[in-house]
Amino acid sequence: FSISSKTVSGSCPSNIALIKYWGKYEHQIPANPSISYTLNHCRTNTEIEFSAGEPFSVQTYLSGTEEVKFAEKIEKYFKNIESYLPWILKGKYTIRTENTFPHSSGIASSASGFGAIAKCLMALDEEFSGKISEDASLRKASFLARLGSGSACRSLYNGLIVWGNSDEVEGSSDLFAVPYPETEIHDVFRDFNDWVLLIHEGQKSVSSTVGHGLMNTNPYAERRFQEARENFIPMKEILKTGNMERFITLVEHEALTLHAMMMMSEPAFILMKTGTLEVINKIWDFRAESGLPLFFTLDAGANVHLLFPNNGSEDRIKAFIEAELLKYTQKNGVVKDVMKF
Ligand code: PMV
Repeated sequence: FSISSKTVSGSCPSNIALIKYWGKYEHQIPANPSISYTLNHCRTNTEIEFSAGEPFSVQTYLSGTEEVKFAEKIEKYFKNIESYLPWILKGKYTIRTENTFPHSSGIASSASGFGAIAKCLMALDEEFSGKISEDASLRKASFLARLGSGSACRSLYNGLIVWGNSDEVEGSSDLFAVPYPETEIHDVFRDFNDWVLLIHEGQKSVSSTVGHGLMNTNPYAERRFQEARENFIPMKEILKTGNMERFITLVEHEALTLHAMMMMSEPAFILMKTGTLEVINKIWDFRAESGLPLFFTLDAGANVHLLFPNNGSEDRIKAFIEAELLKYTQKNGVVKDVMKF
């Protein structure tokens, strides 16, 4: 390779898992496969200025403000991936990054953040090591993003994305994510809303690193990993046939199981807030009364991702959310995103 100073940029959206990844082995190998929707609007935009030949150092700015902690994390990450990008420690980095969604909203900024950095790194790699095919470049970006934050590897592709080896998904791998085959997806799943109710903004009570670690001693962990693997069997059929009722049951079950795992950890964590429970009950009541497909998923936090398809009932669902659910939110209210492919 031959390096030179260069500025590159990359943009990457966040994602929300339907079958959750929670628990991992060494080298960011997931304990079970997961599948997520890539969001369309919640993105991280990143610019990397690489000064060749300078001593290795990393400076990061989030929306113009220097972030020393984040820089330390990136420094460690770059050292970690040197065997895949041999030039990476041979210069100085200034990284400027901004999210298009509120900070500390519980929307996975690590997924969009590492996705965007991986894209920038692949742009630099093409300059220094030569061009490779677009497919190969995306796959390597997904591989690199995984080493930053596991779920980030799914953000490199749009649509429904699988990470982790599953017998049900051809070509799936523990090392990088792959798009779920579009011909196997019913149209009803190809235009979906994700409205994130910001019930609790601010620092999460448990980081995902700590959360994954707690699965090492959780007595229910092995059963959970097996369940997640098995859940790909009904998921495959649901995605093919468009069975919304079964989709809703499976997706909500996955979210509650993730939270149950945290409650059964040692030490235990309850990641929901009062508002989370109120909203879940309101959703269930609404669904029982109206029969309309409004349901939820949760990340490792208190905010509720409201999921509903654009298939004719969305106006009535949106009216219900505005009238009945917004009152449980904090200052930023709701972040509206859509998954379309
Ligand atoms: O990528 P991490 O290590 O931040 O883990 C994310 C885990 C969940 O968001 C809770 C689930 C998932 O599959 O995205």
